[in-house]
Amino acid sequence: MADLSKNVISLLNSQILYESYASNFYLALAYWCDCQGLKGCKSFFMRQSDEERVHMLKIYEYMSEMGVHPATPSIEQPPQEYDKIQDVFQKVFEQERKVTMAIHEIVRVSTLENDYSTLNFMQWYISEQREEEAVIRDIIDKIKVIGEGGQSLYYIDKEVEKLNTAIVAAEGAEGAE
Ligand code: FEO
Repeated sequence: MADLSKNVISLLNSQILYESYASNFYLALAYWCDCQGLKGCKSFFMRQSDEERVHMLKIYEYMSEMGVHPATPSIEQPPQEYDKIQDVFQKVFEQERKVTMAIHEIVRVSTLENDYSTLNFMQWYISEQREEEAVIRDIIDKIKVIGEGGQSLYYIDKEVEKLNTAIVAAEGAEGAE
């Protein structure tokens, strides 16, 4: 018998869907940026897409460890077109907030059910979301400072590239510890 309640199983399956959608959402954004010549933003979203897939797979593994067969969802097509890069990061922030709320719901239900294992498992996601939201907020703030003048796309792309390089370096350093 599985060690997880029906409620928690259902929420974890939904979380697989959200993380999986997020991975595709970022993949679509990467190639939208590619078409706009925004190579720094493309790299940022490609890395983000890979990370979301890892988030998704961790849930599969957790459910499997707990004796549950995870459900592989069908995924809605993400938006393909945007007016401008400024809108993209606003949408990204909204997307991440939705994921954060879904994670908080799993934490809420597992707390009510005294499901300490799931509570413990979800702690990693809470930190991850906090970090992701902070990065997106930072980019949105930089975009505001840069403004929408003639060279703005160039500077936005450079800033996002710089940030992405710093994230990759920090992750590499963590991996080496
Ligand atoms: Fe895994 Fe950014 O949600």
